[in-house]
Amino acid sequence: MTRCLHTVGAWRRLRVRADLDNLEIGFVPTLGALHRGHASLIERSLAQNDVTVLSVFLNPTQFSDGADLESYPASFFADRETAERLGVDYLFCPSSEEMYPNGYRYRVVENELSRSLCGEHRPGHFDGVLTVVLKLLHIIRPTRAYFGEKDFQQLELVRGLVRDFFLDVAIVACPTLRHEDGLAVSSRNALLSRPQRRQAALFAALLGSRRQPREIRRELEAKGFEVEYIQDSTHRRFGAVRLGGIRLIDNVPLDSLMEETR
Ligand code: PAF
Repeated sequence: MTRCLHTVGAWRRLRVRADLDNLEIGFVPTLGALHRGHASLIERSLAQNDVTVLSVFLNPTQFSDGADLESYPASFFADRETAERLGVDYLFCPSSEEMYPNGYRYRVVENELSRSLCGEHRPGHFDGVLTVVLKLLHIIRPTRAYFGEKDFQQLELVRGLVRDFFLDVAIVACPTLRHEDGLAVSSRNALLSRPQRRQAALFAALLGSRRQPREIRRELEAKGFEVEYIQDSTHRRFGAVRLGGIRLIDNVPLDSLMEETR
């Protein structure tokens, strides 16, 4: 049975108890609205650790836009059921007051990578992500923490955070899960209407094609996408678009690009 914990103190009391002390702890941090991408992280953690902790915390500091936070498809009861079904041991679901007792006075700021790609279009986003990830890693003190490659820039920043702050945790990168039509599995997909959902597959198909970023941008814009960026960097191609206001991001290794998509 999954045990739900709402406070840092409740987890810490458990964590120091002898029965959890010598066990390997896997940790999957999430914003909630769990989908099969999250399930694959959880399954990996269950397979590699004695105990798996899942956090569901809709972190307000990583949403610079209030409307984006409001529209996030949070669904706590469904998430709790998913945790239960998958066999998660502990579900950590704190309030904002619990996680930010001092408001947002103290924060982690990274000055290079976090300013590019998504960071350029969502100022402050990665400060919020890194701050909450640092807090969560300090609270849970896991052996391993699981992050998806779909948020590749986030993954790289978290790896840097762990290195620079000498955190004693292994970061495990998990591959992006895709629907049959290639669209990356994401909580935000649930917000797309049926026609938008069909159209969204074009983003994945073009990003994974051999065409040049400029061409991809042109084609997506012609099909009604608002393009934030399509950019090649460090052996990967990154893209972020909006479709009817719903933001989609994706990335693929450059050496996996496919010949034709038309
Ligand atoms: O990727 C996410 O779901 C979030 O950015 C994370 C890592 C849980 C921090 O809130």
